[in-house]
Amino acid sequence: MSRRTKIYEGKAKILYEGPEPGTIIQYFKDDATAFNAEKKAILDGKGVLNNRISEYMMLRLGEIGIPTHFIRRLNMREQLCKRVEIVPLEVIVRNIAAGTMSKRLGVEEGEVLPRSIVEFCLKRDDLGDPLVAEEHITAFGWASADEIEEITNLTLRINDYLCGLFAGIGIKLVDFKIEFGRLAVDGGHQIVLADEISPDSCRLWDRETNKKLDKDRFRRDLGGVTEAYTEVATRLGIIKENG
Ligand code: C5P
Repeated sequence: MSRRTKIYEGKAKILYEGPEPGTIIQYFKDDATAFNAEKKAILDGKGVLNNRISEYMMLRLGEIGIPTHFIRRLNMREQLCKRVEIVPLEVIVRNIAAGTMSKRLGVEEGEVLPRSIVEFCLKRDDLGDPLVAEEHITAFGWASADEIEEITNLTLRINDYLCGLFAGIGIKLVDFKIEFGRLAVDGGHQIVLADEISPDSCRLWDRETNKKLDKDRFRRDLGGVTEAYTEVATRLGIIKENG
């Protein structure tokens, strides 16, 4: 691994140059961070679980025609992906009020929203990923109006599918964050789902008990973080019970 060229190291992942041009390797670390990296920990096995869960999500979404950067999982911590230019936006979908929406708008956590709401935040750690309007995105050229439309359409399809998928295993998909990239094709580019989908980037509540099965266990010091991620993987059938 040391001979590989590192492209970028983020809070939870490292990106290396892939074996062929136009590919990268995503390495999932055990590091957990919250509140813009003010809070940090190493959670044994988290990277392995997120690699497996994200692989599962990308494959299922690919099957319903969502274009993704995912090619294949290489091993317990790495996956081969297409190289894309990341659109500098965090796209958040909310079905139930929680987190910063509850704080910002005073909507009680747990309140089912009248409809799914898509928000855009600028990917800028130094600014704390501020919420931005479409006006800002097009005016500053972070994405075109057509790209925003494509991203919004894909995001709503992803949300529909994932709500059903999680409902099938007794989990409410409260909200989640996704990222998109521009994949070079025939002189132009295509918008594809990139990054990861895992309990690090979703809020997942048990349908019956509202038990949190996601990164809020870490953010709020609830304990049992990897156990919760393991439970998600087990319910998805990715890993076997007791194994
Ligand atoms: O913190 P907030 O309520 O805005 O988060 C909404 C959703 O987006 C949560 O599922 C959270 O895990 C995810 N998120 C993320 N990365 C960020 C910000 C939010 O995965 N930088």
